[in-house]
Amino acid sequence: MDRIELSTIAPAKINLYLELLARRDDGFHQLETVMSAVGLCDNVLIRRSGGSENEIKLVSGGRGRSSDFVSGIPSDERNLAWIALLELQKFVGLDKRSGQGAKITIIKRIPAAAGLGGASSNAAAVLRLGNQLYRLGLTQEQLSRLAARLGSDVPFFLNSSFAVCRGRGELVSPIASRTYPWFVILKPPEGFSTPLIYSHASVPKRPRSAERMIAGLQTGRLSEIAAAMFNRLEQAASEVSNWCVQIRDEFRRIQCLNHQLSGSGSCYFGIFPNRFLANRGANRLRSRMPGVGVFVCRSIDHRNIIKLQQKVQQLQRS
Ligand code: C5P
Repeated sequence: MDRIELSTIAPAKINLYLELLARRDDGFHQLETVMSAVGLCDNVLIRRSGGSENEIKLVSGGRGRSSDFVSGIPSDERNLAWIALLELQKFVGLDKRSGQGAKITIIKRIPAAAGLGGASSNAAAVLRLGNQLYRLGLTQEQLSRLAARLGSDVPFFLNSSFAVCRGRGELVSPIASRTYPWFVILKPPEGFSTPLIYSHASVPKRPRSAERMIAGLQTGRLSEIAAAMFNRLEQAASEVSNWCVQIRDEFRRIQCLNHQLSGSGSCYFGIFPNRFLANRGANRLRSRMPGVGVFVCRSIDHRNIIKLQQKVQQLQRS
């Protein structure tokens, strides 16, 4: 058995745009959302364990006061990354063969229940790495179908940096963006439950369209992107928790192009013209809101990182 350990980064996402189109019979919503992968990342590592059981270990990647990124996240078969590994093994019949277990290690920096897709990103990373570890040769199409069964956001994380996602989120169309904006993300002490926020949201009679946001990214015009930002779930989140309102008020006090909730929250972010202004804004927000996590990060080209990771792995093997 080879002892190779494969690793990758698993980025967070933010929703630059999110509109609800309809409520479906299966309990989900039909939506249109534009997402960007950002440079706030977990690390995911996987290796064969030699045993038959899978294992998962969570390590907090935080430093100092905000060091605990793992409490409340299950480190057993309830973790979506674990479920992803088992689904992959089942798909190819490895679950019935002995000695095929693997150990997943996740170094967590993405806050949980935050609307940043941390669990979905970890699951997508496990699908990609598991495909390599067991040399399965599954196609992108097959991985996407497995990903969609795990959660609405998981397919986005397989290889996208910017995308418009439709259906319940699983139908991903990549966007070639000409710009990689800077963001300040705020994480209040409490997380929001995705089903709860969706259950408070109402579907508009005349939904908006993502066209303006897509065009803004394609042309790279930051002012256009900022003007097109929208999240239909923000109203529902404001009804459920006062944090959303408090953080919005603080963003209004600083210089920032625009700001809104990410996904179903609880994270809330602002968009900035450059790194300097993002850092300045972050410092102001930090001093005014002690106890709230503040992250400065930029949109990333996830596909380049995957290519780089594959090159490193090839070098390690040769
Ligand atoms: O797919 P995921 O596991 O992320 O969905 C979690 C919950 O969020 C769903 O059970 C549903 O209540 C809500 N949801 C929704 N419509 C979507 C995505 C999620 O109502 N498109």
